[in-house]
Order: sequence, then structure tokens, then C-alpha cells
Amino acid sequence: MLMRWIWFIVPMSFCIEQDPFSVVVPRVPVYGLLGSSVTLPCSISPTLNAVNFEVLWFRPQEGHTPILFYQDLEIRENPRNPQFQGRVSLIGGLDKGNVSVKLENIRLEDKGEYICRVEKTDEGEEWYDEATVSLQVNGKY
Ligand SMILES: *[C@@H]1O[C@H](CO)[C@@H](O)[C@H](O)[C@H]1NC(C)=O
Repeated sequence: MLMRWIWFIVPMSFCIEQDPFSVVVPRVPVYGLLGSSVTLPCSISPTLNAVNFEVLWFRPQEGHTPILFYQDLEIRENPRNPQFQGRVSLIGGLDKGNVSVKLENIRLEDKGEYICRVEKTDEGEEWYDEATVSLQVNGKY
């Protein structure tokens, strides 16, 4: 009977420790000034090299037209959200798990939530985590 319990508990705790990373974003909104640029911070913890991971930035309910889609070591032009065309880039530091994006020429309609999703595929096993960053847009006075 004891043996049975051991077989049950050991694999369970092994699975829990297997989570390769979690996505970390600020809990407070990020502020951007109309017409200027802003960084939407997102990174993974623990610090891992994310160069071979997939990174997807999208607005809620608009996952099919991401504002930025990084896969197979490059930024994919398709699919993409036309509202953000030419205004979004990775800031670099992917090798240190930093998947933040820079958003340029901020518009009023950019205000709102952004989901940062990082996905790892390893020998057919997929793992992903995501978190939401909130952007506030202030006008110039
Ligand atoms: C990611 O890079 C940005 C811009 O260089 C920086 O502000 C931010 O602190 C970095 N995040 C982490 C977790 O290192």
C-alpha cells in the first residue's frame, strides 16, 4: 500500500517542478505620451534564453492578428494587426528572456490591454504562459 502512494506522489511533484518558466509583466499600468514611444515590459522568469521560443503580443480578443509575432528566429509579417504596422519592435535581450516590445508614435486608440505570450516547443512538448500589460495614453498639454 505504501508503495502505491509513493508512485502516485513522486510523479506529481516532478510535474509541478517541470514548469520551465512564467511570464512576468508590471502589475501597474504603463504610461505613454501621445505621439511618443513606450516600452511594454515583459520577461520570463527564471531568466532563460528565449531566442528559440515563440513570442506573441496581441490585444485581448485579437489573437488572430497579433501586433507582434516572433517565431523561428524572426519576426513574422503575417498575420499582423494593421493598426500597429511599422510601429512595433522587440527591444532586444531575447537571449536574457526579455521579450518587451517598443511601441512608437502612440495613438489614442492604443490605450488598453496587451497580452504577452511566450511559448516553448521542445521535442513535441509545448509550454506557454501569458500575462497582460495595461497601457494608458496621456495627451500633450
Ligand atoms: C528589458 O529591457 C528593457 C529595455 O532595455 C528594460 O527596461 C527592462 O528592465 C528589461 N527587463 C528585464 C526583466 O530585464
